Amino acid sequence: MQPKPRGVVTQSPAGRKASSLPPPDPAAQAHSLALQEEIRARIIAAGGWISFAEYMEMALYAPGKGYYMAGQQRFGAAGDFITAPELGSVLGRVLARTLAPGLGHDGILEFGGGSGALAAQIHAALPQVPYHLLEPSPDLQAQQRARCPTVQHLREFPSEWQGVFLANEVLDAMSVAVVEKMPDGSLREMGVMADANGFAWAPSPQPLPAPLLQPLRPYLADWPVGYRTEVCPAATAWLQSLAERLQRGRILLIDYGQEAAAYYHPQRYRGSLRAYHRHHLLEEPFYWPGLCDLTADVNFSTLMETAVASGMRIVWYGPLARFLVSHGLPEVYAELQAQAGAEQRLALNNEIKKLTLPQEMGERFQVLILEKGKEA
Ligand SMILES: C[S@@+](CC[C@H](N)C(=O)[O-])C[C@H]1O[C@@H](n2cnc3c(N)ncnc32)[C@H](O)[C@@H]1O
Repeated sequence: MQPKPRGVVTQSPAGRKASSLPPPDPAAQAHSLALQEEIRARIIAAGGWISFAEYMEMALYAPGKGYYMAGQQRFGAAGDFITAPELGSVLGRVLARTLAPGLGHDGILEFGGGSGALAAQIHAALPQVPYHLLEPSPDLQAQQRARCPTVQHLREFPSEWQGVFLANEVLDAMSVAVVEKMPDGSLREMGVMADANGFAWAPSPQPLPAPLLQPLRPYLADWPVGYRTEVCPAATAWLQSLAERLQRGRILLIDYGQEAAAYYHPQRYRGSLRAYHRHHLLEEPFYWPGLCDLTADVNFSTLMETAVASGMRIVWYGPLARFLVSHGLPEVYAELQAQAGAEQRLALNNEIKKLTLPQEMGERFQVLILEKGKEA
């Protein structure tokens, strides 16, 4: 099976039935069962229901057990998905050119560095620039340290920063609230209950809280009953915190997603929440918790509104392909091609196709650059 970027949905929107996959090995099953016990205990303690956001937070980030917090291989051909920095060095080189001018004295802070591939590429291109990482997963921190020993890890948000905050495919890994339109036309937050077979969806008995309803109001009249979508308050709070701490500099975000009108379009009937296991897109988000990546598209309108309300300026927004071409891809390609042998040229051409073709990452991924403390 070809490694697949998570943002490129090539199977039917319903995904694949988990029952058609070979079961995980016994050690992996035991790992997941321990996490399932923890989630089940949380559901019981909460009176029989937790929000999907809470479930997703535990499935991905429960200490020692969540998908990103335990030691399995996630990135690359042997893992569950592939990201742009894992394809080659093109994205890192273009970002280094983009970020180099006017870097503040604190340098670059990358959030959620994954395997450390992007950090290694940018740090190699800008060795004089201080490079920091903030990564919740101890296991990924160790991988990042092994790959680029000279970068520094921060344990928490810095109180102040002059420089760059960078995040590639981090917002899509933040927990989302799932909302569904009920037969009476009301919206309810969807959550999770435990049953004899594992976990199952269940709507909240409470009306939708105002912070979840507010971004949906302009769109909900056009939705049919059963329409399901996501809201990500965690991404909004995260960006607000970054904007508060940034005194002068830029925030550069790359992720798959779209603006609100497309995100909440009536045709997106089942939303964008999906699970990945061994490069398969699955229709059940409850398949072997802890062994499966969970992810949702990013609503870039909310990010832009949050940024502007937090005192940031939008300096660039658009699809990845256009970003790359307008920020040095031709020059990077010429440099790499001149150094490459025949086989490397083929790999380079494949990497550029994946990054730029509309049906690959070129249109599905967006780049948002925000700025604070400089003239427009
Ligand atoms: C899909 S992976 C992307 C990894 C890497 N950026 C790449 O492109 O290969 C998501 C990463 O975000 C990290 N992450 C999730 N929430 C985070 C947060 N609030 N702050 C920093 N990192 C976070 C995860 O631990 C993981 O390393």
